Amino acid sequence: MTTISLEYEAEFRHCEYAKVNSSVATVVVALILGGQLRDLGFDGGRPGFLHFGDKISDGDVYDYIVVGAGAAGSAVAARLALAGRHVLLIEAGGDPHLLTKIPSAAITLTASSLDWYYDTIPNNKSCLSSVGKRCHFSRGRCLGGSTSINYMMYTRGNRQDYDFNLTGWTWKDIEPYFLRYERLVSLKHLPKSSAPYHNTSGVVSIDYFGDSNNPWHKRLIDSLESLNFPYNPDVNAQSQIGVSRILGFTHRGERMSTANTYLEMKSVKRKLRIAKNTQCTGVIIDENNVARGVTVQRGNKTLRLYAKHEVVLSAGSIGTAQLLMLSGVGPKDHLKEFGIPVKSDLSVGDDMSDHVLPLLFIKVDYDQRPFSDFAVLGSKILEILQWIMTRSGPMSSNGLTDITAFVNTNCYNYTLRRLVNDRPECELPTAQFIYAYLNKGVGSIAPNLINLGLSKDKDILQQVLSENSKSASILISSVVLQPKSRGWVRLASSDPLKPPAISPNYLDDERDVDEMVRGIKIIEHMVDTPLFKKYNASIHRMKISGCPGVDEDGYWPCYARHLTLSVQHAVGTAALGRVVDERLRVKGIKNLRVGDASVLPYVPRGNTAAAIIAIGERLSDFLIQDHGLE
Ligand SMILES: Cc1cc2nc3c(=O)[nH]c(=O)nc-3n(C[C@H](O)[C@H](O)[C@H](O)COP(=O)(O)OP(=O)(O)OC[C@H]3O[C@@H](n4cnc5c(N)ncnc54)[C@H](O)[C@@H]3O)c2cc1C
Ligand SMILES: *[C@@H]1O[C@H](CO)[C@@H](O)[C@H](O)[C@H]1NC(C)=O
Ligand SMILES: *[C@@H]1O[C@H](CO)[C@@H](O)[C@H](O)[C@H]1NC(C)=O
Ligand SMILES: *[C@@H]1O[C@H](CO)[C@@H](O)[C@H](O)[C@H]1NC(C)=O
Ligand SMILES: *[C@@H]1O[C@H](CO)[C@@H](O)[C@H](O)[C@H]1NC(C)=O
Ligand SMILES: *[C@@H]1O[C@H](CO)[C@@H](O)[C@H](O)[C@H]1NC(C)=O
Ligand SMILES: *[C@@H]1O[C@H](CO)[C@@H](O)[C@H](O)[C@H]1NC(C)=O
Repeated sequence: MTTISLEYEAEFRHCEYAKVNSSVATVVVALILGGQLRDLGFDGGRPGFLHFGDKISDGDVYDYIVVGAGAAGSAVAARLALAGRHVLLIEAGGDPHLLTKIPSAAITLTASSLDWYYDTIPNNKSCLSSVGKRCHFSRGRCLGGSTSINYMMYTRGNRQDYDFNLTGWTWKDIEPYFLRYERLVSLKHLPKSSAPYHNTSGVVSIDYFGDSNNPWHKRLIDSLESLNFPYNPDVNAQSQIGVSRILGFTHRGERMSTANTYLEMKSVKRKLRIAKNTQCTGVIIDENNVARGVTVQRGNKTLRLYAKHEVVLSAGSIGTAQLLMLSGVGPKDHLKEFGIPVKSDLSVGDDMSDHVLPLLFIKVDYDQRPFSDFAVLGSKILEILQWIMTRSGPMSSNGLTDITAFVNTNCYNYTLRRLVNDRPECELPTAQFIYAYLNKGVGSIAPNLINLGLSKDKDILQQVLSENSKSASILISSVVLQPKSRGWVRLASSDPLKPPAISPNYLDDERDVDEMVRGIKIIEHMVDTPLFKKYNASIHRMKISGCPGVDEDGYWPCYARHLTLSVQHAVGTAALGRVVDERLRVKGIKNLRVGDASVLPYVPRGNTAAAIIAIGERLSDFLIQDHGLE
């Protein structure tokens, strides 16, 4: 056995789902440990496919050090390496394991060994039915960062989301960077008018997901069309509005993360140095406020590594904020509390904005024959084999998640039960509907999937599991696209290996609850359409202690505050204008830049990965322009 397969085994022993008896994940794990995936041609185990991790030693000097191999960090580091720079990319996690490649397995990655799985501080206004009233923050901890564990939805948001009232930050300025990395494989399936909005020759393959064989794909689209939602073949083109089968970060039945795109390019692999399983613990800033390098922890060793040109923080909206504060960049009084010398007094960690949703369960498919656990397991094994052999079938889909809808709920007429879209503001969505399918009986086969995935208290869990034994569910959620509430990140300890304090502070502003309820009302109409009625669909109105009765006024606002779920898109903790300037330089510090989710001043009206990769692309241009090759 090669070293690398041993690494995989160790990885899987830590995976929480491996502990779940007879869960789908266990089957996959068993197949992998049996070496069968490799025998069947799975390329995950082939030497050379992965970066083995480069040797680093105390005192090493590079041109650039990039911290975090996620959405933005992989792009920055790869571009700098391609431009001939001597670059070290530092990543706290290791290789993304094989499950990350299977689109339908995305849900099993939450709370796994690849997830930082941060706890957050309760605000008593949201996530009230979650364990400890805490919402969880999932963040990828491996090469590819969150793009290795996310749901792969490819939406860019709205053009207006990128006008930051800052020199050089309008849609026109950033659009070329969205295009630069896009390799749209399926342009021929889009209308001709879409062509100017896409590129077919970038680094990151974008394609449709495989077919899940689920008849609800079409029914979701048809039911929204019957409420006068337009079908929108391309939410990344002229208009965002309507219901769509969207493209994803996927190709040939596999996930496309920034690890298996940017970091897998042959030319990048030759040139880029990567330190895996190495956690950055701070930026070395000298007495003249110049960033000189970073300190890292690798195993039980502490190393100091230096950058001739610049240090780039791409550790994500949580990691970057924490590293800045540990290094003396942040709110003065807060840093003093922890005895950290202040280098630059900036509002790091403030004004965090994030997408948030109320989780709604629509009961469907009662009439399905009751399958035994064994039969369900059997069909899953067949699906896995199909995926291994042909990279197709349900495992290559992400369930119903490739259907999405964008709508301005103020442009929906609740009396007429129709979207009217009768004024220009209707082009700016306030809500995004996202969907997932929960198979009947999955709760008894893989209880942890529901348990950890939702992390709800006993009362709710009990109702979900009980219903799940009788019917399948479609999870429909109306995401608040422009939340008014703001959260924050602060240090909880001066120990860099301890997680920071995170307050998402969801639903602090009542208007966010109002927006959720407007979305829920549209979903009620959707479930009321003849199409849904024909299949005997109904909303699961759970009894919630502390809320009005299920048919009473005030039930939905209260429900939304209880069944709140983070969409994991937090941005803004080192925002453009406040913390970094228009060239992403940290104010008051030389040779230190930030490129990741934390620089977006507020969350765009769509899924965030596409925008954050573009930020990484743009930062690489800034760096190359500012330091010509000598
Ligand atoms: C469960 C989930 C589902 C999502 N679904 C979608 C979706 O369908 N579509 C979409 O567009 N977006 C989705 N997102 C959001 C999207 O993936 C993120 O917004 C995006 O990846 C953020 O990019 P980033 O570069 O800021 O951070 P990340 O991609 O999270 O990368 C940060 C990297 O830095 C590393 N790091 C952190 N601290 C340190 C340290 N101290 N030292 C060394 N390394 C460190 C981390 O391990 C990680 O690899 C989802 C996110 C999650 C968590
Ligand atoms: C939430 O309620 C708990 C218990 O009542 C209290 O200790 C805590 O301070 C409250 N938090 C906020 C943010 O109000
Ligand atoms: C844009 O920025 C300028 C200068 O910082 C400021 O005066 C103005 O109020 C801002 N406009 C908006 C709409 O935020
Ligand atoms: C498409 O991608 C290629 C490769 O990155 C790039 O050279 C080209 O400029 C891109 N096209 C557009 C329109 O951005
Ligand atoms: C550091 O780790 C190595 C290998 O895990 C171990 O042999 C060594 O004793 C450790 N050193 C200290 C000081 O803990
Ligand atoms: C229809 O749904 C109800 C619950 O809403 C359920 O009790 C009933 O068995 C279902 N009937 C059929 C035919 O599926
Ligand atoms: C909805 O449509 C009805 C009938 O055309 C109209 O009277 C009403 O004002 C509309 N409601 C809103 C909020 O636009």
